[in-house]
Amino acid sequence: MAHVGLIGIGVMGASFAQNLAEEGHSVSMLDRSIEKMQAVADAGKTLKGDLIICKDAEALIKSLPTPRTVLVLVPSGAPLDSVIEMVKPLLDKGDLIADLGNSYYKETERRTAELENLGLYFLGMGISGGAEGARHGPSIMAGGSRESWARVEGALKDAAAKFEGTPCCDWFGPGGSGHFIKMLHNGIEYADMQQIAESYGIMRDGLGMSAGDIADVYKSWMNGPLNSYLIEIAGEVAAATDPKTGGAMLDIILDKAGQKGTGRWSVVESLHLGQPNSLIAAAVEARNLSAQKDSRLEMETIFGASPTALGNSLGDRVDAINSLEQAMIAAKVCAYIQGFEILNAASNEFEWNLDLAAIARVWRAGCIIRSVFLDEISDVYDNGGRSNLALSPVFGQRLKDHIPALQQVTAASVAHGLHVPAMFAALSFHNMSRTGQSTANMIQGLRDYFGAHTFERLDDLGTAVNGPWHD
Ligand code: 6PG
Repeated sequence: MAHVGLIGIGVMGASFAQNLAEEGHSVSMLDRSIEKMQAVADAGKTLKGDLIICKDAEALIKSLPTPRTVLVLVPSGAPLDSVIEMVKPLLDKGDLIADLGNSYYKETERRTAELENLGLYFLGMGISGGAEGARHGPSIMAGGSRESWARVEGALKDAAAKFEGTPCCDWFGPGGSGHFIKMLHNGIEYADMQQIAESYGIMRDGLGMSAGDIADVYKSWMNGPLNSYLIEIAGEVAAATDPKTGGAMLDIILDKAGQKGTGRWSVVESLHLGQPNSLIAAAVEARNLSAQKDSRLEMETIFGASPTALGNSLGDRVDAINSLEQAMIAAKVCAYIQGFEILNAASNEFEWNLDLAAIARVWRAGCIIRSVFLDEISDVYDNGGRSNLALSPVFGQRLKDHIPALQQVTAASVAHGLHVPAMFAALSFHNMSRTGQSTANMIQGLRDYFGAHTFERLDDLGTAVNGPWHD
């Protein structure tokens, strides 16, 4: 059994410490709040491993067997750097620090280089699943040196979520690779959540449904390909009653979405990699626009409210919900095509040699985007599938089956003023992805016209030429 240090006993840290102790591992805890550590130690008295309260960093380091392992679960950025600065002088060569926060992967690379220069090890790990996951089994995505991974692999696999007995916990490559994968997990999480918000808008504003009726739709979708944790909790959120007013809780929640940055980073990084990311970008943009509540209210007084009822443009309610489910499936396939293509491009660019099947496998349980889709995606890659999921028989067929519904739902929504940027992005992405002859010849003509940037002729590929624009 392992004995590790854990710095940061917030909601996640407290849950993770108890999870490790339940598995029989001992945890030396350090936090500014003695009360928090005391509460964790009290609650964990019956657990197999020890939960030890340390009053300062010296006590924490002294309590650990060598070579030491110190897990850190504090906010990324400056708080993490100050924890590293605090423990660094107390550690010996060969000791390991593992960051379990949502760190930006380039900062993980910087920290890895700095600490390895001192003879220390550093692991950058994404953990997903919220407090519940941290307590009972998160999904864990690690990056760093193989040697350092070997030191913590056993304890982390014990603590991780299991999918049919297999731990959802893996090492993916050097440096910032684990945090890059976690960042992209969150980007996909943004896209999934935006699609759910759009389906909610179509049902609420387009079909005039109550939160309770909408909850029933999400519950019914759990029986089909959309079965996922986020659809499950969308059903619960829509079904909940506000204890204060007795009305639907959802109707009382202010429509301004928060964000901590991983969605935005996913967009920026995929742009750097030259990869389509339009569903995640639509999701980030929708959150940005949602935050401009005052401006939206003012605009509404000038232009009138945008959404209008769909009437029977999607048929009766049963037909409309059926088309919406199919549209959601098609849009979700597009989001995962983009997500895995971004991971593949990062793998090539940074020479990480990422195993796409293994990534899909650790996302099958424990994490926020867990779904039956991910089990199917891991099967595709395990059976030699190419990175573009549209080229696999199962996801290719889903697109063929459900793109017509996505077209229908998107067109009707746009015609009636409903805001469906992720569905629209999915459809545009699919339309261009399947078009052999795009319109980029016009872009090339324009670039050459104003800047002599050259283009290739279809009848003479490989040769840069100019057009006959100027005398
Ligand atoms: C997870 C989540 C988590 C993230 C929250 C909030 O995998 O457990 O992705 O890491 O912090 O979802 O993210 P936003 O505040 O950006 O929505």
